[in-house]
Amino acid sequence: YDSAGVATLHNGTIATRKCAGKIVTLEALLEREPLVGKVGIAHTRWATHGAPSPLNAHPHTDCQGNIAVVHNGVIENHQSLRETLQRRGHILRSETDTEIIAHLIEEALEPETRNPKPETEITFLHAVRQAVCQLEGSYAIACLWDGAPGVLVAARHGSPLIVGVGEKEACAGSDLNAVLPITKQLVPLNDDELALVTQTQVRLFDPDGNELPLHLQRMDWEIADEDKGGFPTFMLKEIYEQPDRLRRIIAARCKPPNPPVFDELSMPPSQLIAFRRLIVQAAGTSWHAGLCGKYLFERYLHIPTDAEIASEFRYREPVLEQDTLVIAISQSGETADTLAGIRQARSRFVPVLGFCNVPGSTMTRESDAVLYLHAGPEIGVASTKAYIAQLAHLFLFTLHMARLRWLLSDGDIQNLLNEFCTLPEKMQRVLDEQDVAVWRCARAFLNARYFLYLARGINFPTALEGALKLKEVSYIHASGYPAGEFKHGPIALVDKETPVVCIAPKDSVYEKTLANIEEVRARGGRLIAVTTEGNRDFDNIAEFVFPIPPTHEHLTPLLTVVPLQLLAHHVAAMKGLDVDKPRNLAKSVTVE
Ligand code: M6R
Repeated sequence: YDSAGVATLHNGTIATRKCAGKIVTLEALLEREPLVGKVGIAHTRWATHGAPSPLNAHPHTDCQGNIAVVHNGVIENHQSLRETLQRRGHILRSETDTEIIAHLIEEALEPETRNPKPETEITFLHAVRQAVCQLEGSYAIACLWDGAPGVLVAARHGSPLIVGVGEKEACAGSDLNAVLPITKQLVPLNDDELALVTQTQVRLFDPDGNELPLHLQRMDWEIADEDKGGFPTFMLKEIYEQPDRLRRIIAARCKPPNPPVFDELSMPPSQLIAFRRLIVQAAGTSWHAGLCGKYLFERYLHIPTDAEIASEFRYREPVLEQDTLVIAISQSGETADTLAGIRQARSRFVPVLGFCNVPGSTMTRESDAVLYLHAGPEIGVASTKAYIAQLAHLFLFTLHMARLRWLLSDGDIQNLLNEFCTLPEKMQRVLDEQDVAVWRCARAFLNARYFLYLARGINFPTALEGALKLKEVSYIHASGYPAGEFKHGPIALVDKETPVVCIAPKDSVYEKTLANIEEVRARGGRLIAVTTEGNRDFDNIAEFVFPIPPTHEHLTPLLTVVPLQLLAHHVAAMKGLDVDKPRNLAKSVTVE
């Protein structure tokens, strides 16, 4: 992200290397000034308190440099703790909230350093425990103390933390992708637990310091591929993986002539048929998938559904009745706002069904039931294949529910499933046949100041998603609008330079969308159209047309989004931007 650092403990001394910038900068620093040691902590920072700089980069140390800490999260009472520590004579060097943790551990260890006891590991653990008791906010931390050689203490509250034991090494990390290459024998920590990690073992403790049994689980998830497989970026690789991911979802979920299979779904049919209201809550791209879910649930299940932005849902006073099901959607399963929404629902005895990609993530442990998305590890910050997996699962789950509620016949379900099973091949065709044209389009509009995305119905979320993809990777402003709403204000933005991306498959609202597109054209907007193969309506009016193979109206979002993902990628790549790690963004947003 914006800065990085590492500390090791060797021969009783902690040494750190830190820098602003990405990990390559740290690697170069380590080439020049290597570190040795058998225990270490490292961190990539996404700045919250204090600008990205070597001084603000983690690890942070105490007054004497005897303790080092890395931290993911936000300490909300850091200012008052900082003032108290300063009054007691501590010298704080950075502007971060994290640094205070090192000084709090230093205070807790003070009697010990004067009077060392033999069980230094446990002493260290209790010092960390005393320090974290004073913190408000969220944290996953890993700490070193030069008085406890070969030991790392980790603790969490509200931010993800996983510990694992490998053959000759043990580890703690805040992301499954980081620890899986070391070991698959893992255990995610629960809130307020602490872990004592040495080379050969991990010991778990509750917040009162009592040792807990350690039940390592084998996490059989794919190890994220470090290689881009010949593609220039992970984002493009992941876009191209989408047909294969859909095939895997079909293999796991669709066994014709049977209805979709959800083996892991622990909510019994009797519970699923009783819900009278659905609330989908999620963030970013996952929220866009949730909006598509709203269309599907209302259309096929006749259940009133809201699709809520998690950061709003969590702080409102939503009406949550006993016959409501909250559906939380997340690629990472660690998005702080979505997790808070889950806790809000469960605290009011409303069950939560999680749609999640990452096994073992906090969402999978805190939801009442989970559906795994089978997208595989997603590396690019811009979510692509996880979105496709979310849309696919929302569609299949709708069929499952429609069958339970006797709203679709077996024949109707089979027809819809048969069409669903044609999508991998159709999506592959979009990639094979459209990529070069999209590339030309990207080149033509490289210097546009902003883009507009218009659609109606179930593709309105596609317009939002296309705009989000472009914004986040190319830094060009973009807005997605329902085509019918456009004339109520945003149409004033259109001039002869404005690229307007119209998502207009031949569906039940096509004629209405076309009428709205004419309004844009009359004001000089430059049209880019995504429409159904064989439709000639755009031949003379759009500068670029990206046809998608015909499919069922409610499956079109899985195809229409593909040219938009490519467009965002190509514009950003042509601008020479870091497509996989756009500025200011993090892959999983674990702060609120
Ligand atoms: O891991 P999640 O699905 O919960 O993440 C939610 C958003 O942070 C995420 O979709 C974000 O908007 C992506 N960068 C979009 O590409």
